[in-house]
Amino acid sequence: MKILAIETSCDETALALLEASGDKEKPKFKLRGNVLYSQVEKHKKFGGVYPSLAKREHAENLVPLLEKLLKEAEQNDTNLFFENSDEKNSEQYLIEIKKILEREPNLFEKFLEFVKKVKKPKIDLIAVTSGPGLEPALWVGINFAKALSLFWQIPTIPTNHMEGHIASVLMNSADVEENDKDEIDQIIFPAIALLISGGHTELILVENWGKYKLIGKTNDDAIGEAYDKVARLLNLEYPGGPKISALADIARAEKLQPNTNEPISITLPRPMISSGDFNFSFSGIKTASLYLVQKLKKNQNDVSKKTISEQEVELEEKTKKMVALEFETAVTEVLFKKTIGAIKKHKAETLIIGGGVIANRHIRETFKKLENQTDILNEKIQVLIPEINLTTDNAVMIGIAGYLKSLSKEAQINPEIKADGNLKLSEDKIL
Ligand code: KG4
Ligand code: ZN
Repeated sequence: MKILAIETSCDETALALLEASGDKEKPKFKLRGNVLYSQVEKHKKFGGVYPSLAKREHAENLVPLLEKLLKEAEQNDTNLFFENSDEKNSEQYLIEIKKILEREPNLFEKFLEFVKKVKKPKIDLIAVTSGPGLEPALWVGINFAKALSLFWQIPTIPTNHMEGHIASVLMNSADVEENDKDEIDQIIFPAIALLISGGHTELILVENWGKYKLIGKTNDDAIGEAYDKVARLLNLEYPGGPKISALADIARAEKLQPNTNEPISITLPRPMISSGDFNFSFSGIKTASLYLVQKLKKNQNDVSKKTISEQEVELEEKTKKMVALEFETAVTEVLFKKTIGAIKKHKAETLIIGGGVIANRHIRETFKKLENQTDILNEKIQVLIPEINLTTDNAVMIGIAGYLKSLSKEAQINPEIKADGNLKLSEDKIL
């Protein structure tokens, strides 16, 4: 079955076309097209994502991206379009579609122009993110999906963004030509999913696709948020995660030792590492980082005998690298210890890690090594981590999650879908 996936929950406008087959035990996916427009440059000046700008950008870019996607997919699938599609028949829906898109008049204009010039594609299912995320941004994707659903009469299914991050491990290679050969082994349940992104830090018990139980989550900030905030303290641009990660990598390669730096030892807490549960907290390490950076700046000022204000002091590159290394080491230790605890308690056979922060090289390697560390776990475990380009937000993962959901839930033409900024994977109950 061919699936069109739409993702607009945050600051990436993303669309993908997948060919999916198989049952829940052994689902198979081939990527036919994958397009993404990142708004990150536009949000930089706000130091984070600005919801109404995100919404406007999605409305602006969805149609050109769909056009690009279909062109890309046609290269891989010459049988993508119906020969004789009857647009006249679809015109009866235009009044309703205009209503669906009434809050995005520009998008409606672009939609009209576009559907009039393309043939109807042979798409069997539309999967669209309905939450969690920024509601104004989610609505644009949902309304666009509904408009397409109606015009082309394609069943549509709402999809949970976090289920997408979990399911992203089912696509072993995002390379359009190559991904036929790279098939993933069957997943053995129960699995533990560690979700680490800009908005979430959660441990989930996955009993099967669609059966999730929350076993722990952050009490305050998400780990990606902490990365971004600590990056700002070091005067690094948003999103700071990748920048901290790069600095920490250099520090590791140069064998810098943060905590022996005199006169100020660069050490940060490992929050809640011994709390005995599976919850996290990252706001304390953010505050500890703030105090540490203040101290380091004061010290640098004293040493150089300068009298400029603390805000104006730019920390030396070496000091920044050490703070980045200490921060990354601290959060990785916490993630690792809690995840091991969850695997042991729930006798998990598989560990799945999803979300933007698993783009981080050090965290990836730390967890990948776990496959061979039977001294830590007693049993062998399969560790599944998505390809780098499927770690941050994308539509491929939404297509995969949408397909899995469609195996047990019926998709409908122009269904009622509501954006839900706080959509949960499971009842919000900690086991
Ligand atoms: O999953 P995602 O794209 O969006 C959300 O759903 O939140 O995650 C974005 C987060 C940002 O906080 C970003 O700084 C972080 O992922 N991130 C990283 C890295 N790449 C992205 N954090 C640490 N190291 C990285 N290499
Ligand atoms: Zn995400």
